[in-house]
Amino acid sequence: MDAYILAVESSCDETSMAIVKNGKEVIGQSIATQIDTHALYGGVVPEIASRMHTEAITFVLEDVLKKANMKIEDMDAIAVTYAPGLTGSLIVGIEAAKALAFIYNKPLIAVNHLIGHIFANNIEDKMEYPMLALIVSGGHTELLIMEDDFNFKKLGETLDDAIGECYDKVARVLDLKYPGGPNVEKLAKEGKPSYQLPQPVLDDTYNFSYSGLKSAIINLVHNEKQKGLEINKADLARSFQEVAVNELVRKVEKAFRETNIKRLVVAGGVSANGYLKEEMEKLCDKYQAKLLIPRLLYCTDNAAMIGAAAYPLYLKKQFSDYTLNASSSGDIC
Ligand code: KG4
Ligand code: ZN
Repeated sequence: MDAYILAVESSCDETSMAIVKNGKEVIGQSIATQIDTHALYGGVVPEIASRMHTEAITFVLEDVLKKANMKIEDMDAIAVTYAPGLTGSLIVGIEAAKALAFIYNKPLIAVNHLIGHIFANNIEDKMEYPMLALIVSGGHTELLIMEDDFNFKKLGETLDDAIGECYDKVARVLDLKYPGGPNVEKLAKEGKPSYQLPQPVLDDTYNFSYSGLKSAIINLVHNEKQKGLEINKADLARSFQEVAVNELVRKVEKAFRETNIKRLVVAGGVSANGYLKEEMEKLCDKYQAKLLIPRLLYCTDNAAMIGAAAYPLYLKKQFSDYTLNASSSGDIC
């Protein structure tokens, strides 16, 4: 029997709902983005984000039902992101999902946002196990082994900043608008890797570190400004991107060699980066590994990925009760 899941995502600055059939087919999706508002402040302002979710969420629900030409009665379950993310933002989605589940008597499914990002890869492709999962988002940089749908083993993670956060900070010192990632990528295309920047942690673990690279760039820009010298912003963006992405490549290569796993999925907002995709493609060619990266629409925050991750939970009848709340810990293993 087909299962239709209405999924809700509101962990950061996108209010999104999607109707996903059998965890794979996106029947409809609606996303209300707050980017233009937060761009005025150079980053997400949590208070504003929660209020904007509250304003948008009913319209997003109306919109997704209209796009899918379905009713809430037609749904088999309601899924929602419960962690990690901004608490006030998560609560808006959780309360909406609970209200819908209660009124329409549907099971409620709690989904971890990061697992959602991974399952974005299962929408238009098929994830097979065991596989390596590289999570690269605004708040996380992690390399995991997945043995099965919800069976994770963490190889390593960032010891300080996430790669997306680093992109956003670099964008700020280069006077680029929020969200920084896509703008740094665009500018990097016009530059040459002419700046010498420090390589992140040169140890032999699977951990990452991006704060040293971030500080090096901030210091470089300040020093040049003090000397009255011009920064070549495109060259600096390019130099940064190469170091930042090559660090990911280095750790995934180590995992290919040491685990002998021949599959890789890349998940999270930074997976939208074209240079990262090219470099991972080269690496996967070298190791004859299968690479999955979601289509652009499913790289950044969206509810379809939450519906995709909710499906195996639906099959296992892993439902939540109405005490479901936002969780500050988003650890998946
Ligand atoms: O997954 P996501 O949408 O939200 C979180 O769960 O954090 O990721 C957002 C992050 C931001 O830091 C943004 O700058 C980065 O993903 N990002 C990119 C690109 N598109 C989004 N970073 C580099 N290149 C991009 N094209
Ligand atoms: Zn995300």
